[in-house]
Amino acid sequence: MNQKIYSRIIGTGGYLPEKILTNLELEKLVDTSDEWIRERTGIEQRHIAAEGQTTCDLAEIASRRALDMAGVEASQIDLIIVATTTPDKIFPSTACLLQQRLAIHGCPAFDVQAVCSGFIYALSVADQFIKTGMSKCVLVVGAETLSRITNWQDRNTCVLFGDGAGAVLLQASEQPGILSTHIHADGEFEELLHVPSGPSKLPKSDDISERTMAMKGNEVFKIAVNTLSKIAIETLEANQMQKEDVDWLVPHQANLRIILATAKKLKLTDEQTVITVHKHANTSSASVPLALDEAIRDGRIQRGHTLLLEAFGGGFTWGSALIKY
Ligand code: COA
Repeated sequence: MNQKIYSRIIGTGGYLPEKILTNLELEKLVDTSDEWIRERTGIEQRHIAAEGQTTCDLAEIASRRALDMAGVEASQIDLIIVATTTPDKIFPSTACLLQQRLAIHGCPAFDVQAVCSGFIYALSVADQFIKTGMSKCVLVVGAETLSRITNWQDRNTCVLFGDGAGAVLLQASEQPGILSTHIHADGEFEELLHVPSGPSKLPKSDDISERTMAMKGNEVFKIAVNTLSKIAIETLEANQMQKEDVDWLVPHQANLRIILATAKKLKLTDEQTVITVHKHANTSSASVPLALDEAIRDGRIQRGHTLLLEAFGGGFTWGSALIKY
């Protein structure tokens, strides 16, 4: 009988741009306050890419750190998937640009666009490639420069987002790794969270709001809390596991209140929840791999632990992954 193949995490890496933008600095840009931002979102600061620093620049550093941790040469990678909503160029994909930076040739490389759920989507795709025997060593990256599609005059959105990248290296293994992934979308909610224009749907005017993120935060909030709880249950049921079997929740970092509400429904304590939103803000597809990398590197997440990763974002899209680390 053929042995079951799992995707096992052998390395993680993260990178945040040097420049930090605090809530106090934002008070000078828009009508907001440090107190309001902390109370409503849990965010204290965010990192912002330097002028000229691109999504691929961030992705490259995070990827090299994941390769170093795994002790693997870039030449062993046989698939690159980059989740991003802020690619360097319309084309080639950021995954192809990253492949060039890593000086490897020939392996497939493509981007996945599922906004804040992008990393979970990319992880799910990578897992299918590994489980079917198509790939043996996959680099999965979530990388964003959301500051480039942020309207710095809109207090409803500009306080929420930041830049960064996280990377995970997956290897085919007979030992358990990713136990299951679950991805969903519902395009009906297009206008609750979107950028109104793009390469094909041209801006109607020169107004900055045509080219930057717009969100009906309150409505997104309610749907996010409900959806994330439902997907956690779907994931546990698919694996015949109970809430108590989960050691760590590694959630998308959009809002501390959403994270804590989800953890509470899972009966997980704040100590079992990886939280980075206060330092990173919402880095979209980079938020889950950045949180994962931090908790692995500081020793909280140990081999053998069961991790529940989950995310929700524009589209709407949402997804989860249950992982035996
Ligand atoms: N500073 C100060 N006041 C602000 C503000 C800011 N940055 N942004 C909004 N406000 C004001 C609003 O104008 C409103 O004022 P009003 O009552 O006079 O009309 C008031 O604060 C409350 O706004 P509301 O939108 O109801 O606040 P909220 O408690 O829902 O918090 C979010 C707003 C955006 C933080 C919250 O809705 C949220 O996190 N939503 C989900 C975000 C998310 O997950 N997005 C990404 C998914 S990947």
